[in-house]
Amino acid sequence: MGIRFFEDQKYFKLDAGNTSYIIAIVGDEKFLGHVYFGKKVPDEPLDIASLLRINEYPFTPSVNNRERISFNDTFPTEYSTHGLGDFRESCLVIRDSNGHSVCGITYSSHKIYRGKPALKGLPATFGDEDSCTTLEITCCDKVLDLEVTLVYTTFENLDVITRSVRVKNNSNKDIKLEKVLSACVDFDGIDYDMISLHGSWARERRIQRMPVGFDKKSVNSIRGGSSHQSNPFVALLDRDANEDYGNVYGFNLVYSGNFTAVVEGGQFEATRVVMGINPTNFEWTLAPGEEFTAPEVVMVYSDEGIGKMTRTFHDLYRNHLIRGRYRDKKRPVLLNCWEATYFDFNTEKLLSIAREAAKLGIEMLVMDDGWFGKRNDDNSSLGDWYVNEEKIQGGLKYLVDEVNKLGLEFGIWFEPEMISPDSDLYRAHPDWCLHVPNRKPALSRNQYVLDLTNDEVVEYVYSRLKDILSGANITYVKWDMNRPLSDLGSSYLPKEKQGEIQHRYVLAVYKLLDRLTTEFPHILLESCSGGGGRFDPGILYYSPQVWCSDDTDAIERLAIQHGTAMVYPLSTIGAHVSDCPNHVLGRTTPFETRGFVALAGTFGYELDVTRIPEEDRKMIPQQIEMYHRYNDLIRTGDYYRIANYTDNNRYDCWAVVSKDKAEVLVTYIKVLHRPNFHSQRIRLKGLDEKAIYRDTETNRVYSGSALMHAGLNIVGLHGDFKGKLIHLVKESE
Ligand code: GLA
Repeated sequence: MGIRFFEDQKYFKLDAGNTSYIIAIVGDEKFLGHVYFGKKVPDEPLDIASLLRINEYPFTPSVNNRERISFNDTFPTEYSTHGLGDFRESCLVIRDSNGHSVCGITYSSHKIYRGKPALKGLPATFGDEDSCTTLEITCCDKVLDLEVTLVYTTFENLDVITRSVRVKNNSNKDIKLEKVLSACVDFDGIDYDMISLHGSWARERRIQRMPVGFDKKSVNSIRGGSSHQSNPFVALLDRDANEDYGNVYGFNLVYSGNFTAVVEGGQFEATRVVMGINPTNFEWTLAPGEEFTAPEVVMVYSDEGIGKMTRTFHDLYRNHLIRGRYRDKKRPVLLNCWEATYFDFNTEKLLSIAREAAKLGIEMLVMDDGWFGKRNDDNSSLGDWYVNEEKIQGGLKYLVDEVNKLGLEFGIWFEPEMISPDSDLYRAHPDWCLHVPNRKPALSRNQYVLDLTNDEVVEYVYSRLKDILSGANITYVKWDMNRPLSDLGSSYLPKEKQGEIQHRYVLAVYKLLDRLTTEFPHILLESCSGGGGRFDPGILYYSPQVWCSDDTDAIERLAIQHGTAMVYPLSTIGAHVSDCPNHVLGRTTPFETRGFVALAGTFGYELDVTRIPEEDRKMIPQQIEMYHRYNDLIRTGDYYRIANYTDNNRYDCWAVVSKDKAEVLVTYIKVLHRPNFHSQRIRLKGLDEKAIYRDTETNRVYSGSALMHAGLNIVGLHGDFKGKLIHLVKESE
């Protein structure tokens, strides 16, 4: 059992893999305090009162009631509420029927059971009775008649604890939730750094590391999606922690909408981390008897640096989050026509690309934006999900059948959440987009956002998707979302529910995705949002891969994929070889290097195979052969960061090691060549030190130990942007 309650000192001990997490009940009023999160410690002896400092000033209120505020403001509370003197970042803010916002919760009951419950309407990690144990602690505010249930699950063999929260109104009056975060952890000390992932369109998920310090630092999105600019991930780590050494605590919210993570260094040198739905513009009315479920936070602990945290997230998401028949499968090598044709295609052009693609070994053709309504550029037709037969002459079924006859599967692009002002849908239902009366909604990419809080709109969107997907043999969908939410007004919801729009929107997207994946389980879903604007664990619950960035330049992708892989497995990272000069940057890189970089993701093409240089085309069959040779390893192995260009300005290097350490693939990309320099030595990680490894290209043998400590010299790369793969297999112990 991964979770136990110790009666004598009234504490819960949650053990997950090599991790312990301890919560205790203290004082006559039964406050719930956070004792510890970190490397596994023995069950007993533990001096809980001393660790929680309740025998020190200001003591608990039962001992020193005159300083109750000091207690509330310094006690490492397990879930902070607003209004009673905890002036640090709070998790729960309610507005009662009298307009007051005071709330305080104390322990009332608990239960411990095997397995992991699903979260109502929300994506979450999953696990069975053998792999998981769950603790539910119910706390109450007796004045408000409010029940707050803190839900924790431990994973037996992974350093992972998940948290979520349910808030229930047991009173006979409505209350308003103004803020409901999902997790709060108070760490002793302030000498930490934090890591977050920042970015922009075409520059997603760059790694930022900075000291915590006093006061608050936050990572957040209020754009309606998890965003290009930020990611619902934050890590706290020891100042001296690095890739391979030190304590690291990673937090990731399983949610695709507005989020916040606040890291606060407090007056007595303690650090609080909270995470959950962003309270900006959030409100939720709970009628008597109703309950609200806050999304899940995944907490990962590593005692061996940032690298181990990454590998734990990868293992968790590959086995306990991603679902569907493609999860453990090699994905078809696809050619997406976006950078090949943009909006300028028709049946014949697509078939000519497909014919050439088939000869080269490509396995799927994806028809991107531009096949519906009157869409010949990005100014119209979103919402009119009817095939444009002027372009797709002969109809969609004909095109798909012809592509299938060539031996290729067929995929299609949708942007279901949007509506163009120039569309039949908008002309028929101008009230179906998010807007407030008497104000023209703000355009982005010349489009508005559909009001998905309205079930009728959701039904329309789903029926169009279903119709198209049922009409032809389509086995892949790219689900795009190309603008943030603004003009938060719904003509469908009553005025007291307008503050619920953004969360309701996310729930509706999940409902649509759930329906799609349930009714079309054979479809491979790739999520997208102007590239990687919605790359989060919530989305991964429905789609096993996400288009990582509209920036397909191999060198830019090094940093983007490096940052994305901080949390998300390589199997989820949508990556394609595209044409040069690169359409975003104008940079030219070798075709071979583009292949090596895309190999560290889902792998595919985004170019017109009928028009690229002959020497590039000739390389495609070899690249596809390379993909088939290495993808099992890349999808399932352990990922090690060895060096990165953002830090050293010269080269990138990473490796994937199979779980049994029998096979290793090292990717080395030299970004900038230097004159008059020696070869670059790299030290590998994660090998079997006692084993002998053979380089399958040169047949040279090395000891695992020498590769890890003495290293390996990379020779023979002349010029910029050159890359090399080194494939090693274990010969013997
Ligand atoms: C977004 C996507 C692209 C492409 C276009 C189509 O920008 O990220 O890959 O699908 O939309 O409009």
